[in-house]
Amino acid sequence: MNTEKLLEVVDVSKVFSTEEVETFAVNKVNFHINRGEYLAISGPSGGGKSTILSILGLLDSPTEGEYFFKGKETSKLSRDELSTIRNQEIGFIFQSFNLIENMSVLDNVMLPLIYRPGAKKSAVKARAIQCLEQVGMAHRKNHSPTQLSGGQQQRVAVARAMVTNPSIIFADEPTGNLDSKSAETVMDLIKQQHQNGATVCIVTHDPRYTQDATRTIHFADGSLVS
Ligand SMILES: Nc1ncnc2c1ncn2[C@@H]1O[C@H](COP(=O)(O)OP(=O)(O)OP(=O)(O)O)[C@@H](O)[C@H]1O
Ligand SMILES: [Mg+2]
Repeated sequence: MNTEKLLEVVDVSKVFSTEEVETFAVNKVNFHINRGEYLAISGPSGGGKSTILSILGLLDSPTEGEYFFKGKETSKLSRDELSTIRNQEIGFIFQSFNLIENMSVLDNVMLPLIYRPGAKKSAVKARAIQCLEQVGMAHRKNHSPTQLSGGQQQRVAVARAMVTNPSIIFADEPTGNLDSKSAETVMDLIKQQHQNGATVCIVTHDPRYTQDATRTIHFADGSLVS
């Protein structure tokens, strides 16, 4: 396996401050993810898993420490550079699907590609349909997400996460809102992405789904415990 480091966090902390309390959601954490890995992050509720995943996915930034993506320290990047990385290098799958309800399934999947400079609509559409075929949802391409079951919505979300062929796919409890059959289908699709060469990082507290991972790390009280 290619063991090139794709990303690394060094002494990363995230403190949420309110008037009364400071919460150390993530406390001086160090780890890296290599290209081609499938990393699972597990641990108890409130342990900081979603917080660290949001930081890795560039949806949030650390209050302390450094986050390197492809060797670049992300706090030194401009907003434009960060949004380019977010759009081109990162796919994100949420527990609650987060599809845009007033857009069709196809438009949701086309969205990450459509604003690229020089993007040709016909090519973007063809790529989106190809991804929808891979997750078995092409027959629902003109539906609204509201007309789909949870499992179907999450399959569309997987298609949206993979449409850009990102360097890494993050998923935060992608099966949290699904019945066990749909959960299995979604996890199989994520596993397939890994087998096709994608780097994957998933948060789950379900031990059934850490089996697919090549490595698992545990978070508790904001720290890496193993
Ligand atoms: N926006 C926020 N403002 C204040 N505190 C927050 C915020 N987000 C998270 N926290 C706190 O940070 C800690 C870690 O939360 P986080 O959501 O990362 O946990 P988690 O491991 O994902 O838990 P779960 O398994 O329940 O999803 C918790 O104590 C939480 O209350
Ligand atoms: Mg969480």
